[in-house]
Amino acid sequence: MSIAVLLLAAGSGSRFGGEIPKQYVEVAGEAILLHTLRMLEQEPRLAYVQPVIASGDRRFASLVAQKHFSFALLPPVIGGEERSISMLRGLAALPADVDMVAVHDAARPNPSARLLKDVLDQALLHGAAIPGIAVHDTMKRVDADGKVLETPLRASLRAVQTPQVARRAWFEQAMQREEKRLHLHTDDASVLEAAGFPVYVSLGDVNNRKITTQDDLLWLQGLLEERT
Ligand code: CTP
Ligand code: MG
Repeated sequence: MSIAVLLLAAGSGSRFGGEIPKQYVEVAGEAILLHTLRMLEQEPRLAYVQPVIASGDRRFASLVAQKHFSFALLPPVIGGEERSISMLRGLAALPADVDMVAVHDAARPNPSARLLKDVLDQALLHGAAIPGIAVHDTMKRVDADGKVLETPLRASLRAVQTPQVARRAWFEQAMQREEKRLHLHTDDASVLEAAGFPVYVSLGDVNNRKITTQDDLLWLQGLLEERT
């Protein structure tokens, strides 16, 4: 039994903008992607990290050169135009002994030891788990014209994060079954749900925030400064 992280780093960061893809932007002296790798080291059950990078990316190799990690860092594979394609390519490249997969955003640099432990514990127990946090705002479901259709009970809602963890065979079967609809899924767990696999929500963390815009970067700078 071994667990691998699929580290998705093949995006172009269009909402973030700038010259360098956001996962390589330096904060507190290190690239965001390196902060992510260092945080993943806190969870001793992670045997492998399989990076998925963009075609033509030269930054990854120089970033990890001469560095050592607690897990085996596998040679990167090339992702695709859509996140689900990047995920499929990474999944196909995993070593044969991997039977649990944790899909994580490279641009989410702060998964705590507690969060990693909880999501793995829940996934080992139930087959699939994702970290989530309660939402503070009331949410509305609307139609294309903006007319409210429904107000879901706030207490039943969770904003979900990564790593999204599941049995490898579940991810493989679900992605095969949903092959034609992969572009409709906004996260990895929704592919599992659509294919009928049960997914549980573990306790997430507000600081496990994805870097999407420049505002998120300012927040991360503040957090890391506070820490040092
Ligand atoms: N990702 C990927 N392959 C893609 C798209 C995204 O591996 N085709 C990765 C990104 O590198 C990122 C994570 O998935 O680490 C979360 O995606 P997102 O925050 O949307 O990043 P980008 O797609 O790079 O940003 P944007 O959507 O603003 O272009
Ligand atoms: Mg994107």
